[in-house]
Amino acid sequence: MNNLHTHQPSSTNAAKAFPLSLKGAPAKFAGAGVLALAAALATFAVAPIAAKETRAAAPDPQASPIYGVTLPKGYRQWQLIAPAIEAEPLNELRVVLGNTKAIKAYDQGTLPFPDGTVLVKLAWKHVQSPEFAPASIPGAATTVQVMVKDSKKYAATGGWGFGRFIDGKPADLAQHQTCFACHQSLVKNHDYVFTRLAP
Ligand code: HEC
Repeated sequence: MNNLHTHQPSSTNAAKAFPLSLKGAPAKFAGAGVLALAAALATFAVAPIAAKETRAAAPDPQASPIYGVTLPKGYRQWQLIAPAIEAEPLNELRVVLGNTKAIKAYDQGTLPFPDGTVLVKLAWKHVQSPEFAPASIPGAATTVQVMVKDSKKYAATGGWGFGRFIDGKPADLAQHQTCFACHQSLVKNHDYVFTRLAP
């Protein structure tokens, strides 16, 4: 008990962050001091674990609000399901692509779509070709939208998780509150999916 410092792990961060000295403490308080020190060190010992958990639980800045959907890797190489044109005011050209599960489900007419299905819709401003007036070509990219089927995780929204991305970054919460309502009101009978396979 003469040298309380021998109880402190001298080179740990905890010791640095908690440079408590009990050297001058009266002998009768030293026992309580050791307990307090032990408690403090225990707190420091668990603190990094708690911090790590907090970080893991923090929202992924690349993921959509509400659903946590991210842009799938390699989607530009996926197969075409169908193109679409959206009239004013958006005035966009669009294509819907699907991963292997999506294409298989479309080919076989499987409904509802199986878990693991991913649909991606790319959109661009609808621009007149400078070389040939009757032709429309893609202008600036506007949004990339994603629907991911996971019937358990997204049970509350028909089994679909939604993500809208602008310049690769997820759009805000308010935009994500609109997705399911519209898809549900218009295409509930087609597993909440508008796009049919282009013939
Ligand atoms: C007001 C109605 C409406 C809202 C709101 C809406 N969509 Fe859609 N969505 C459509 C229509 C219509 C299509 C069909 C293709 C097209 O016209 O672009 C579509 C198609 C899609 C597709 C391709 C698969 C399919 O169903 O055809 C994805 C992916 C998609 N939307 C994602 C989203 C996301 C993500 C949101 C929310 C951020 C959203 N949508 C909000 C109407 C809507």
